[in-house]
Amino acid sequence: MVSKRRATTKSNGHPSGDERYTMIDRTMKTFKYEKDALLEVLNTAQESFGYLSEELLIYVSQQLEVPLSRVYGVATFYHMFTFDPLGEHNCIICTGTACHVKGSDRIVQALSEEFDLLAGETTADGLFSLTTARCLGSCGLAPVIVMDGQVRGKETPEGVMRQVKETIFLSKESREVEAEAG
Ligand code: FES
Repeated sequence: MVSKRRATTKSNGHPSGDERYTMIDRTMKTFKYEKDALLEVLNTAQESFGYLSEELLIYVSQQLEVPLSRVYGVATFYHMFTFDPLGEHNCIICTGTACHVKGSDRIVQALSEEFDLLAGETTADGLFSLTTARCLGSCGLAPVIVMDGQVRGKETPEGVMRQVKETIFLSKESREVEAEAG
């Protein structure tokens, strides 16, 4: 039976009007609101918002009718989830077995050294976050990264560094232009 809360959400959208919630709702619907879909739903929540806020965890808990303690438990168990807002740009590097074998750790290390960050952290200017994931589901393309939501495979430390630097450079430029324009 579909609960009143779910029915309300499905017909009206999230009260905040934030359309990213519809992506989460879609995933829950796909899995027929099964409690076992918790991990998938949390994944979608993080992909949609970039991190898991307390509000999101409460929302998922209510919608799947899973105790909040369990939602927190699953979210904190998996390394891929983050609870801090990400920077303007985010590079997720897969460190799962296939990607590890193909040298993903060297990519993490290169970015970590260049930007003086550990995985899970954001630069002080808020421009760049470095995160890691256990498997991004594209092992045949190892090593895999996701740069600002775009999946890219067969990457090298040099190639990723170039992409990240270019992206950050463009962001800095546009910040300067905005600052000059007042
Ligand atoms: S191990 Fe990296 S995509 Fe699966």
